Amino acid sequence: MGTEMTDLLGFLRCPRTKSHLVAKGDGFLYSMQGGYRYPIVHGVPDLRLFDPPYTTREEELRIVNAMAEVAGDVAYESLMTFYANELAQYRDPERIQNDIRHRLALLERSPSRLVHLFEKACVSKLPAGSVALDLGCGSGEAIGALIEHGAKQVIGIDISLIELVLAKKLLSEQGVAALLVAGCAEAMPFSDEVFDFIYSPDVIEHVSDQSIYLQEACRILHKEGRMLLNSPNRYSLFTFEPHVGIWGLTFLPRPWIDPVCRMLGRGPYVGKRLVSLPELRRLIKGSFVLFDIFARNSNPKSSSIVGRIYHALSPISVSVYAYIADQHVVLVRK
Ligand SMILES: C[S@@+](CC[C@H](N)C(=O)[O-])C[C@H]1O[C@@H](n2cnc3c(N)ncnc32)[C@H](O)[C@@H]1O
Repeated sequence: MGTEMTDLLGFLRCPRTKSHLVAKGDGFLYSMQGGYRYPIVHGVPDLRLFDPPYTTREEELRIVNAMAEVAGDVAYESLMTFYANELAQYRDPERIQNDIRHRLALLERSPSRLVHLFEKACVSKLPAGSVALDLGCGSGEAIGALIEHGAKQVIGIDISLIELVLAKKLLSEQGVAALLVAGCAEAMPFSDEVFDFIYSPDVIEHVSDQSIYLQEACRILHKEGRMLLNSPNRYSLFTFEPHVGIWGLTFLPRPWIDPVCRMLGRGPYVGKRLVSLPELRRLIKGSFVLFDIFARNSNPKSSSIVGRIYHALSPISVSVYAYIADQHVVLVRK
């Protein structure tokens, strides 16, 4: 068993029983209680209790096997374009190009967004020796930046094995040491109070149960631990819906959103649920007592007419503005 797996086993628990897991060298992890077993897929333990929203497990395995076959011979960028061109389920050329562009942009954007979110929430470097979780880590573009910001050990968890295979490649290319695991945010394979810091940007709108996602985050955070996340605003006046690019779509009653999105040729609208400021507050209060919510990217320029009115009417305008801002940044303290 590699040292990486030994390190990971120190953190991992059975997501059902929370008992320790053991590796017997046959490609599975076994729970000490309950008799559960979980596969290790191309070096990544798969501790998911339910399927990813975007594909079936069989289709995902086909894709992951094909990626793993070429991963040793090509660079991250080629692996990512191979996935988008050859393997992704969507065949629309425009969508393929958008996906590639988006993923390339993330390589630059993720680390700078982390700096921006840390600044917005007034988080300075993490205390020495911090253990951090990148919750919904995607292809791991932010993990290096978490280490640069003081984390001694970072674990990345995501429901998508495809993202984790990409993350593995990216991190090895960047020379970044991190542990990766496939798991559900709603049933995390960790024991209570193990993380000092959880970073979870652009994830709350994708999980299947937002309350349980936050309850789980609270459970695995240390007593003085913190979590930093951001959430696109359901009622943003200033931006298009960030996934399908339709202004005002999420102002509609929820049952209408998917059919309208399909009707406009951008659907289906699945695996996404944007929340408003009051709903975000209610969700956070369900798990945490201490938290701050900041509006992001939305103060109008002081040189514009709107900006002048905004600044003249401060602080009332500042509170009103939070309801229609692009995004909310949340810092919680346990
Ligand atoms: C928009 S991406 C954000 C990725 C990364 N945090 C970033 O900012 O680039 C959302 C990620 O959340 C993951 N995700 C969605 N539902 C999840 C769940 N229930 N548990 C764990 N991860 C989930 C997706 O697979 C995807 O990688």
